[in-house]
Amino acid sequence: MEWVYIEDIGKYVGKEVEIRGWVYNKRSSGRIRFLLVRDGTGIIQSTAYSKEKDNPIFRAFDELTLESSVIVRGMVKEENRAPGGYELELSEIIPVQIAEDYPITPKEHGVGFLMAHRHLWLRSSKQVAIMKIRHEIIRAIRDFLDIEKKFTLIDAPILTPAACEGTTTLFETDYFGDKAYLSQSGQLYMEAAAMAHGKVYCFGPTFRAEKSKTRRHLMEFWMVEPEIAYYKLDDAIALAEEMIEFIVIRVLERRRKELERLERDINSLEKVKRPFVKISYDEAIELLKKEGFNMEWGDEIGGDEETVLSKKFEKPVIVHRFPALQKAFYMEPDPERPELSLSFDMLAPEGYGEIIGGSERISDYDLLLKRIRENKLPEDAFKWYLDLRKYGSVPHSGFGLGIERTVAWITGVKHVRETIPFPRLLYKIYP
Ligand code: 4AD
Ligand code: MG
Repeated sequence: MEWVYIEDIGKYVGKEVEIRGWVYNKRSSGRIRFLLVRDGTGIIQSTAYSKEKDNPIFRAFDELTLESSVIVRGMVKEENRAPGGYELELSEIIPVQIAEDYPITPKEHGVGFLMAHRHLWLRSSKQVAIMKIRHEIIRAIRDFLDIEKKFTLIDAPILTPAACEGTTTLFETDYFGDKAYLSQSGQLYMEAAAMAHGKVYCFGPTFRAEKSKTRRHLMEFWMVEPEIAYYKLDDAIALAEEMIEFIVIRVLERRRKELERLERDINSLEKVKRPFVKISYDEAIELLKKEGFNMEWGDEIGGDEETVLSKKFEKPVIVHRFPALQKAFYMEPDPERPELSLSFDMLAPEGYGEIIGGSERISDYDLLLKRIRENKLPEDAFKWYLDLRKYGSVPHSGFGLGIERTVAWITGVKHVRETIPFPRLLYKIYP
């Protein structure tokens, strides 16, 4: 008998098939038994009917508990009343392992309990929908960069000798007697690679020892970082806009069912069309003052401010040209106003806030050296990075998109801890 997956069941109407999965639910009604089986691709209702109370199928049915692993065989039927539109008329139930009392029940659990059972929580239909959409987003990004834009994937190292995004959030480790750090960003290495390949990206885990306990912060998160030689700030912004529009269209096309499971407001995702909203840092400060924030020029636009800005517009908002002092050492100054950096953040709408950070990079050797010294960074560790400004330096730009924050926004989930399979949170590293 053929082993099939529930997502393909429509092709097997009238045929006997085998499904290998787990017990999602079960109930009896008189002489009928209903067994809901999930296999990771969907859920199917399977039924058995018998006049006799004692028969092998009923006996196996009675034995099964929630989340027991089970193989079921039977005939596929169209059935409008069944979830998914198909049903399996059982000819055999083969229990694989009878599960102990399953700790996660349909009743409400606190988030602490669920996080401590993340290895099991991942099976629930909502968590499955989030991970399917996460995968779709990652696939869309790869298709966009690999196929549409012909970028070269270059993997950045995870163990690094120096900081990219400030020295306060480094995870330190011992490297044969020297200090090494888990990478905060692959960007600096992408700059080297862009000079070899023109347009490149890296896509990997990044680490920030940030003592933040917000719905937007993880200690370990995934970032995609395109870097392009000869790109100016505006080119990088345009690429970020095109990529986000591409991702949202793709998820709407391919993951409707999951969005509906999550009760996501589809209408607001459909509004994510270019051009996005663009405001300068100066304008953002003025806007925030009008919204009642007690702020002045030079202040950081923090989480609360981002929430307000990103609720004000229906599309993603690009804030550009932040004060240089707020931003990383490698950012090119605005030639018209050197106190500004040629930088941008993209804020997702509906209060989600920053999902992308990017900039044009300094291409002049002397200026970069000056910035490294001003920031008291170890010059030796940056020698190779400075070299790039000695051998055919060009203007170049790029950005980093945080996967978990993007997944949170697109799925409508409040907290990033549900948008990565096994989140690393402040003081929490289990499971
Ligand atoms: O703005 P960030 O720090 O920019 C960089 O790392 C640049 N080097 C990227 C580049 O230009 N190649 O981080 C980029 C994005 C943020 O917009 C956010 O989406 C995500 O990474 N991010 C985090 N996501 C979850 N938890 C954290 N602690 C995050 N820190 C940054
Ligand atoms: Mg940022």
